[in-house]
Amino acid sequence: MAAPGLGYRDASLPCRDGQGWENLCRALADKRSRQEEELDWNLPADAPLPYRYRWEHVKDVVENARLLARRLGADEDACVAAAWLHDIRKLEDQHGRRGAAEAVQVLKATDFPQHKIGTVDIAIRLHEGFSSGRRDRPLEPLEAAILWDADKLTKLGVPQLAHILGTARAMHLSQVERLELAESYTLEFVARTAESMNTEPALRIARIRYREMVAFVQTWRRQTENPFGEPEGSDPQVPASSRTPA
Ligand SMILES: [Fe+2]
Ligand SMILES: [Fe+2]
Repeated sequence: MAAPGLGYRDASLPCRDGQGWENLCRALADKRSRQEEELDWNLPADAPLPYRYRWEHVKDVVENARLLARRLGADEDACVAAAWLHDIRKLEDQHGRRGAAEAVQVLKATDFPQHKIGTVDIAIRLHEGFSSGRRDRPLEPLEAAILWDADKLTKLGVPQLAHILGTARAMHLSQVERLELAESYTLEFVARTAESMNTEPALRIARIRYREMVAFVQTWRRQTENPFGEPEGSDPQVPASSRTPA
């Protein structure tokens, strides 16, 4: 890590000349994600990682941040840089505060518009947590609100359930334990996350995603407890070739 005040230089990353800020941010996010994932999976050094959960998360946050910035007229550079760098210190306590401090050093040494660094700093600082983002009024500036929403949106929806079930902590769980993990995550852990959204488009889609993930775990529970049970009002069309001969 660079000494304070000397700018950011990491010989293992591309763009050491300070050009191409987004490539550098992406490469740093990739590298730090991998470090976290390697610790979590705890496999031999040359074994491939079964699932790069942090990297998948960060890429989704970047995509959400870019879309929200365009939709809401926010500073896209600041939103995208903050999204790439928001979890670079995820392994440490207060990863928002520590990540923001490092992000400032990183961006200072690149061609990133220097007057936007302060916005990235605030956005990363304020993104920590699962449901406390909005409180009484939206986070400010808008770019901080967008990073919060982009990050927390990834926690909601059916794809997120597939995501958590692909992580190291789920690897040895039985099918029933997987259902219980999906239920506790949905009904307890992220129960208030949708309502923490700052921006109208994120709040709208978060509520839809949450409703759908609740329906998903309820369906899973019903099919587990009653394998021949049918949901109310269902009239599945069974192909004639599948019917039991009379
Ligand atoms: Fe984070
Ligand atoms: Fe995150």
